[in-house]
Amino acid sequence: MTSTIKEKIEHLRKTVRYHDRKYYVENNPEITDYEYDQLLKKLQHLEKLQPELITPDSPTQRVGGEPLTQFPTVEHKLPMLSIDNTYSEEELKEFDLRIKRMSGINAHQDIEYVVELKIDGVAIALWYENGLFVRGATRGDGFKGDDVTANLRTIHQIPLKLETSAKKEYIPTRLEIRGEIYLPNTEFQKLNESREEAGEPQFANPRNAAAGSLKLLDPRITAKRHLRIFTYAIGYYEEIEFKTHIHCLEFIRSLGLPVNHHTRLCKNIEDVVCYCKEWDKRRSGLDYMVDGMVIKVNSLSIHNQLGATSKAPRWVISYKYQPEQAITKIEDVVVQIGKTGTLTPVANLTPVLLAGTTVSRATLHNFDEIARKDIRVGDRVVLQKAGEIIPQVVSVLKEKRIGTEIIFKEPALCPACKGIVSRDAEEVYLRCHNPFCLAQAKRRIQYFASRDAMDIEGMGPALVEQLVDKGFLKDYADIYYLKYDGLVNLERMGEKSASNLIHAIEKSKDRDLDRLICALGIHNVGSHTAEVLAEHYDSLDKLSNATQDKLEGIYEIGPVVAKSIVEFFQNEHTQVIIKKLNAGGVNTRKLATQKSVKNPKVSGKSFVITGTLQKYSRMEAETLIKNLGGRVMSSVSKKTDYLVVGEEPGSKLDKARALNVHILDEEAFEKIIS
Ligand code: IVH
Repeated sequence: MTSTIKEKIEHLRKTVRYHDRKYYVENNPEITDYEYDQLLKKLQHLEKLQPELITPDSPTQRVGGEPLTQFPTVEHKLPMLSIDNTYSEEELKEFDLRIKRMSGINAHQDIEYVVELKIDGVAIALWYENGLFVRGATRGDGFKGDDVTANLRTIHQIPLKLETSAKKEYIPTRLEIRGEIYLPNTEFQKLNESREEAGEPQFANPRNAAAGSLKLLDPRITAKRHLRIFTYAIGYYEEIEFKTHIHCLEFIRSLGLPVNHHTRLCKNIEDVVCYCKEWDKRRSGLDYMVDGMVIKVNSLSIHNQLGATSKAPRWVISYKYQPEQAITKIEDVVVQIGKTGTLTPVANLTPVLLAGTTVSRATLHNFDEIARKDIRVGDRVVLQKAGEIIPQVVSVLKEKRIGTEIIFKEPALCPACKGIVSRDAEEVYLRCHNPFCLAQAKRRIQYFASRDAMDIEGMGPALVEQLVDKGFLKDYADIYYLKYDGLVNLERMGEKSASNLIHAIEKSKDRDLDRLICALGIHNVGSHTAEVLAEHYDSLDKLSNATQDKLEGIYEIGPVVAKSIVEFFQNEHTQVIIKKLNAGGVNTRKLATQKSVKNPKVSGKSFVITGTLQKYSRMEAETLIKNLGGRVMSSVSKKTDYLVVGEEPGSKLDKARALNVHILDEEAFEKIIS
């Protein structure tokens, strides 16, 4: 009996590993997400029956264990060196001549180079013993780094067990692979959006977000960040031989680790220059940040011959791209108050063109940042798109000051309610602690009514402002006590829009529990966590009585989130609001799940969405597709059946065209799903 379960478990693990590789590494899934989940559930079930058979390399064991209190330090077997930088074609050609001179090669002879994208993330070393992933560490000071194994295990692209491809390569007893951990731009944006919703400070760029996520002490939170990796070198290895770097990369790829597909073998330095220039234009179309190219001599015997300086190997160089910058003036600094009370200083700028868009605002992150950079109102500043996504102030042109610039003082009171503000636990952010602060209430109500929450059509930010200012709303539960007679007399509100709004409010009373949980605006709880909670508790009442322990027992809910939930429901103010929601007729229970209706045009088909749709939020469109039996993928591949294109589509559209994927505009999409 035991042996058959054991065999089944082993077979399932192999199957799940195979599909992990297809999905996460090769971008070429063979089964639906549903089928994959079923396999994993089956494996979890069998392991539950025979817990003694659980091994650390099982795909069920990616996220586990308790949060750490600190990261142990690990010494690197070989130092993790840096790379020297170049910024021009001339410097690249000098590098080529230097290599030839040092290795005794004739200046007219060609040298082969491997040219790779320089991923702007966090360097990492992965240590495998007998094919098992045993340890992963950050670069640290190059000699010693932090042991972040538990967090790295949550990255599905990193095999917990190495498996060779059909060629049956030999797996060395000890092997160290090096690579870069990064956060895709789309994930970075989602993360910042949910942090904004949860009232938490945003990350400045994808690199900071990746570094921050890797340094979280609770791997359950890291797992939700969806970090990714590209591997680009072998650090330490034994028992095997390689002649070229490209051979090393092929070997790493054959073991199931992701190697970037844009890596190119160039026959000489002219080819290298061309390829570097080509990518300066192409890189903006990728879903990850590339800050340059890395040029490596292909021949490993030349590597050995040249060796390294104390800082960097001599056989490699990077060609760095210039980040786009612009100079503009700070007109004003305003303080925004988030829905949990965080005060964020924002600069209003004289509008300026930067990397293709007009920028008129930049976040200044926090008040220490203003002091550190000595940013004053009226200053001329250098602006840069941090990770080319969010504009940030790089530096102040102090020599341009004329003496009229004004130092911005950190507010002692909340600028909206004049309530007390104080630093949060990490001492970085200022927070207003007044539960009745109207600025916070506005943000909370706006969020409650938004598309991804209770979706109350017509109740946009401007109307919420007005309703709060006029005293109609103090909290979001008041929405359900609004009367037609009160609304119809408001500015910019006619009879038709007032009755439409009343109708939309009525409709929102029947939203499912997960939307309501999300709409409550609990610190650290965004739409995904709300879905997870609604799967475990079928009413708001049950959730509000859940203990910290019980919540932490849920896969995907860590202690920080659990604490936020408990604190939220214990708050007297919350209790009053929930009573009001109940009495106002808002559904607080889980609705019976709709049976998915198969639609032959959608069922079994794979969809990717790009750009902004007018009638649906991303979540709505995805739910529609899934309910009709379709799949939603994040990137376009040969297997994509449809690309749904909204306004301002991204590079996915180019890729879909290149792969001849069927493209649907919003109208065509509606026809298909109707
Ligand atoms: S090779 C000694 N290849 O860039 C050479 N590094 O600025 C080892 N990086 O610390 C690194 N993409 O974190 C290499 N394709 C790539 C890379 C890459 C990004 C990072 C890496 C390194 C840093 C140096």
